[in-house]
Amino acid sequence: MAAGEWHREKGDYLKNESFAEDKGNVPETGCLSIIVLGASGDLAKKKTFPALFNLYRQGFLQLNEVHIFGYARTKISDDELRNRIQGYLSSGNEGSEDVSKFLQLIKYVSGSYDAAEGFQALDKAISEHETSRNSSEESSRRLFYLALPPSVYPQVCKMIKNYCTTKSDLGGWTRIVVEKPFGKDLASAEELSSQIGELFNEPQIYRIDHYLGKELVQNLLVLRFANRFFLPLWNRDNIDNVQIVFREDFGTEGRGGYFDEYGIIRDIIQNHLLQVLCLVAMEKPVSLKPEHIRDEKVKVLQSVVPIKDEEVVLGQYEGYRDDPTVPDNSNTPTFATMVLRIHNERWEGVPFILKAGKALNSRKADIRVQFKDVPGDIFKSQKQGRNEFVIRLQPSEAILHEAYGQATWGVVIPEAYERLILDTIRGDQQHFVRRDELKAAWEIFTPLLHRIDNGEFKPIAYKPGSRGPAEADELLEKAGYVQT
Ligand code: NDP
Ligand code: BG6
Repeated sequence: MAAGEWHREKGDYLKNESFAEDKGNVPETGCLSIIVLGASGDLAKKKTFPALFNLYRQGFLQLNEVHIFGYARTKISDDELRNRIQGYLSSGNEGSEDVSKFLQLIKYVSGSYDAAEGFQALDKAISEHETSRNSSEESSRRLFYLALPPSVYPQVCKMIKNYCTTKSDLGGWTRIVVEKPFGKDLASAEELSSQIGELFNEPQIYRIDHYLGKELVQNLLVLRFANRFFLPLWNRDNIDNVQIVFREDFGTEGRGGYFDEYGIIRDIIQNHLLQVLCLVAMEKPVSLKPEHIRDEKVKVLQSVVPIKDEEVVLGQYEGYRDDPTVPDNSNTPTFATMVLRIHNERWEGVPFILKAGKALNSRKADIRVQFKDVPGDIFKSQKQGRNEFVIRLQPSEAILHEAYGQATWGVVIPEAYERLILDTIRGDQQHFVRRDELKAAWEIFTPLLHRIDNGEFKPIAYKPGSRGPAEADELLEKAGYVQT
């Protein structure tokens, strides 16, 4: 069965998540202020503002309710910020009325991240908007999106708490969206969690992992738990190995300074790929309630046994250190393949191979589930290869988009960030990482990361545009993967 086909069958579940049908069901109304902190930055212009624009264009942000604020230290005017963003709003919309109306919703406030004045000015701007829009029976909602380096999260959260939380006595809320990387290891993540946890409750904190907003990742649970075809197959009796692969055909490109501090394991594997692993491997949740789903994800993470050195291959592409922001002696991996093993009844003995790399030969993200050989295979001599079920998360989303779009009568497939921002407005935390989940994720990788940081584990050089180090393919083979 092609990945697109189960979409067709499961339109009902998708409906819950799909924009078109849910338009009328946003539970709260009233004044909504979306505040993008770090508005001058890369993520804000490439992802956050374009996602907000698409939500606006599709009718999810009502003109008479919403106002968007940008905040950062850079001293620019409202119009300068609007000009910076304009070119990143979906192509084909240039000069459209939607674009100019959307841009007029944005106001910019400049200030530092650790001083009261800036946040007082921000609060004043938000309050003015609320006063002008609120009727007495409505509540006010404030969504703070931290498009900032994690080093400033604690001070920014403190400022928000002290000066900018919602004042409405009539309900409403204040929510905080934080980007990855959330910490660098178990200790730093826990410290960050405690610092933010002292200021905001867990239901107010949305730890975003944009892979959880991708169309096919969101539908993994449908595939697994609403499909009689897969239910009996999804276990160690039938599955030989699972690969979750992320490849990019470009290097760190302008992000070398950030990347070198983190490396591919913290940038991709500890979050994006591990979240996918959870959805592939978890047991059936009691219900689709966010807490029930997250409970099951935590259990899988806690069942992962320590990673063995001999089941890890690290790589660094040649030329990575030419970036002036990367130290000449950098030991940071830009590629990693590793085997995770889950100690439970369903998965004992089944390797979960996580592989991620920059500057490889292609750009794609796949889940590849390889089934055991057919007993008494009469086609063996014809080298038919293994049964393998592949779910392509990208870049063929466009193709799946096409198929799904036709099959579901023109429903618009949202981008990951659009979905996730809408979830934060609705207060749905299902696709966000809970604190205990994050802790369990760091527990898996911290020992290995510390060895890499201490220079005890060195990456192997590989050519840009290649498959990565040959040793990684050898590891795959040892783990049981058969090239199909
Ligand atoms: P930027 O480096 O562009 O930083 C965003 C803004 O933060 C800058 O415009 C700057 O604004 C301010 N800033 C930068 N460095 C510092 C600093 N050391 N101290 C205080 N303020 C600083 O980052 P991105 O936009 O790329 O990323 C923001 C967050 O999103 C990060 O956590 C990143 O890891 C995460 N992320 C980014 C992705 C991307 O594609 N860019 C993808 C996924 C996650 P000003 O100087 O005007 O105050
Ligand atoms: C980000 C990483 O989280 O995800 C980047 O920091 C990476 O290094 C990006 O390029 C990939 O996202 P996507 O959605 O293009 O696969």
